[in-house]
Amino acid sequence: MLVYEGKAKRVFSTDDDQVYRIEYKDEVTAGNGAKKDAMAGKGRLNNMITSRFFELLTEAGYESHFIKRLSETEQLVKKVDIIPLEVVVRNIAAGSITKRLGFIKGEAFKAPLIEFYYKKDELNDPIVTDDHVKLLGIADDADIAELKRQALNINNKLVDIMNRMNLDLVDFKIEFGKDKDGNILLADEISPDTCRIWEKDTKENFDKDVYREDTGSLIDTYTNFYNKMEAL
Ligand code: C5P
Repeated sequence: MLVYEGKAKRVFSTDDDQVYRIEYKDEVTAGNGAKKDAMAGKGRLNNMITSRFFELLTEAGYESHFIKRLSETEQLVKKVDIIPLEVVVRNIAAGSITKRLGFIKGEAFKAPLIEFYYKKDELNDPIVTDDHVKLLGIADDADIAELKRQALNINNKLVDIMNRMNLDLVDFKIEFGKDKDGNILLADEISPDTCRIWEKDTKENFDKDVYREDTGSLIDTYTNFYNKMEAL
């Protein structure tokens, strides 16, 4: 049974009440749905790439909602209640932080920066402080600390993986959920839809900015990224 449909994925219940099946759609959106296109093969690429990232994280000892890849477009995951926060980690200035705070695109930060955005389409996912997160009743101090701890660990591992592909992990967005025992688990996806990734020497984009900025073929870009990942 369909339990949730988002912009890029559908979530289905399974025979096991603690397990969901996620299907990746052939759809791409940007700017909270302002730009939207059907794109054959996109669901497959994002599922293959996300599954590989989750496998690499599991091998490195980071638990997540991921159980296994079922097919080219589907995964089995543990059922979690999604915490309505987009957790963004930034290593290099790009995107919204250049506009909001005037950082120059490409400027490397001394330490990774963590930001929270409130997942609320009607409000356009506003950036929020820790105090807002508490006031909104989304998370308490302990949960906020745990989200930050996991986000930094995940950043370290993803930066390692990208370095091995001669790529810089500029920034990325992750989401977390709580399982039935209240454990906070990494959920959602990790793909060129949710990360900014630049080739170290040429600064070529391997991410959704090619679609956001109309600078190239999204399918070719994601295919090239997937091939690099497979060659690891
Ligand atoms: O737009 P902004 O610069 O804040 O995005 C930071 C990172 O978070 C980028 O890698 C972007 O792809 C990701 N992001 C996302 N989903 C959103 C907003 C941002 O995956 N709704």
